[in-house]
Amino acid sequence: MTSRDNSSVAISVQNVSKKFRVYHERNNSLKSAIMRGKRARYEDFLALSGVTLDVKQGETFAIIGDNGCGKSTLLKCMARILKPDEGKIQAHGRLAALLEVGSGFHPELSGRDNIFLNGSILGMSRAEIARNFDEIVDFAGVGHFIDEPVKNYSSGMYVRLGFSVAVHVDPEILLVDEVLAVGDAAFQRKCQAKFAEFKRDGRTVIVVAHSAATLRQMCDRAVLLDHGKILELGGANEVLDIYEERTAEKVERDVFGVQRHGSGDIQITGLEVLDDSGQCIGQVGDEGGQIDVAAGQRITLRMYFHAKDPVSHPQFAMAIDTDYGLRLWGGDTRFEPKLPQVVHGKGMIELAVDLPIRTGKYVVHGSVLDQSTAHNFDFLRNMCCLEVTTDLPHFAAGPVHLSEEWDLRGSCSPQDLVPNGFAKGK
Ligand SMILES: Nc1ncnc2c1ncn2[C@@H]1O[C@H](COP(=O)(O)OP(=O)(O)O)[C@@H](O)[C@H]1O
Ligand SMILES: [Mg+2]
Repeated sequence: MTSRDNSSVAISVQNVSKKFRVYHERNNSLKSAIMRGKRARYEDFLALSGVTLDVKQGETFAIIGDNGCGKSTLLKCMARILKPDEGKIQAHGRLAALLEVGSGFHPELSGRDNIFLNGSILGMSRAEIARNFDEIVDFAGVGHFIDEPVKNYSSGMYVRLGFSVAVHVDPEILLVDEVLAVGDAAFQRKCQAKFAEFKRDGRTVIVVAHSAATLRQMCDRAVLLDHGKILELGGANEVLDIYEERTAEKVERDVFGVQRHGSGDIQITGLEVLDDSGQCIGQVGDEGGQIDVAAGQRITLRMYFHAKDPVSHPQFAMAIDTDYGLRLWGGDTRFEPKLPQVVHGKGMIELAVDLPIRTGKYVVHGSVLDQSTAHNFDFLRNMCCLEVTTDLPHFAAGPVHLSEEWDLRGSCSPQDLVPNGFAKGK
């Protein structure tokens, strides 16, 4: 491909707005239709609003933002699959788009037939496709599946084939939606190499992606969308920094902000964490906070409380979640025989647990309830964040450490085993 004037525009987006009609159709029964009469129950929802930007020729450009902010809608407008309600989009150059997993593929047709179908939709002649066919199949790595109907493909194979066709139709502008996340690491590396090659050729690439690390490496500029509007537009590093900061803030707010409710007959006043030798390793008050702990040890959680007036048969509960909200453990004192009948004044309840957690952030919730456990005296959601910065000297994945034992049974004899324990292929 010949070199181009770097300042010329590949895609120009001018004041683009796109709305969708959203129907509120919760109940489709005949009765509800009669009750509703003929009134339409919908509202127009602005997925894009006044978006203006130029993507220059030869540039690798990222569209980023939270789920539902309008990234795919913008890409579809650029690809002319959606028509903006306002504004206009001009593209200069042959365009190929890889939008959603399997879009443009016919499920009943074989991979081979789909390559010809898809290639011709994207503007290649039959002869051009035939010339590139082996390379397309090779790049996609679908092997002998090429003559199978694509409905039998895994989502990874679908994406690889779609991507392979899109990059082989010789596009001047390539639009790629988040689909790449579906591929494995090896394929992602291959895609990145392809993007780099496109860049060297002076082609334009517009990507929507979630992994900021890969975007940083390959993109020149980026736009950050928020509820269909441009929040930031500029250098990729700069815009990604802003996006990551916003995301981090949001996670802190959502996960680690203490939420409290209850009648207050007993109030939780704080939490202390002790390590397995009984040393205090940190404490937080009722406004919450973070405590660093080592991976995989037995810890004691001491929850302090105060009862202004005597309260009979209170129950105590605690729970631990991962920072993405998965409940790892939760328990209460209902079946603890040693608990006092009445509490009054200041007190403390101690919970010792083996905490087999691995590197990451975990959230502790605590509550004091009445005897039936139906009524909260006090409930502190997110009262403490436990951060595990060390890891166990052992390779495993997932938030918890489970003691494991592997055992191979079968008809293979010892000489069939390679040193790391896996059976050799015959
Ligand atoms: N065909 C459609 N009909 C109605 N609403 C849609 C349609 N496509 C997208 N939306 C809505 O528009 C908003 C933006 O969607 P989208 O562009 O897919 O977001 P993103 O790709 O950033 O996650 C979302 O709220 C989505 O639900
Ligand atoms: Mg999307």
